[in-house]
Amino acid sequence: MKKPIAVLVSGSGSNLQAVIDRIEQGVLDAEICLVFSNKEGVYGLERAKRHGLPTRSMVMADFSDRTAYDRAMLEVIRGSGAELVVLAGFMHFLSPVFVHAFENRILNIHPSLLPGFPGVRAQRQQAEYGVSLAGCTVHFVDEEMDNGPIIIQAAVPVLPGDDEASLGERILSMEHRILPQAIQWVVQGRVFLDGRGVVVNQDETSDFAGNLEHRLVNPRLERGF
Ligand code: GRF
Repeated sequence: MKKPIAVLVSGSGSNLQAVIDRIEQGVLDAEICLVFSNKEGVYGLERAKRHGLPTRSMVMADFSDRTAYDRAMLEVIRGSGAELVVLAGFMHFLSPVFVHAFENRILNIHPSLLPGFPGVRAQRQQAEYGVSLAGCTVHFVDEEMDNGPIIIQAAVPVLPGDDEASLGERILSMEHRILPQAIQWVVQGRVFLDGRGVVVNQDETSDFAGNLEHRLVNPRLERGF
């Protein structure tokens, strides 16, 4: 049974594309019931249309405030039948009314090893700070920004001469692997919360010993991810 998911984008949608690709390869047991954007005409919506996926966009300027916008967005997403909401480069801070409507059912991909470098342009923050390891994180969304329980992280090296663009590109290629993997674990019902901790139950079909080390830095992602 493929779980219906809504994917929210604000730009290029390369993470959306990674999710579409894994679904079409048959390794991700989800179906995208809606691609939603807070911006009109972004390439992420083009990608969705190219794959015959339903799309909707709504702009904040048409609403009195963030809560009114989020209530309208919530109606659209509920109406799509989505059981999981995936923020794939969605540049809009969700209000509590939305977060609580999908309690522990909203995932976000952030381009740093949280809790380091939250917020915008994390790639630039990491390049300028001089870290030797950068990376990305998929986490549950709670009321604070980039703060919810962490499902999976992956690290990439920072190389001499790296800048925001070169480091961002290296991080993005790993984002495209861990986001579909995190979604797969959630739709398979293998992810359990233990306070801030997240436990990912072993899947007998996976190809590594019964441990969760695959969630460590540079995770040993499961076959196909
Ligand atoms: C990604 O780096 C993501 O981590 C960040 O915004 C970027 C979105 O890229 N939130 P795309 O739209 O998925 O290509």
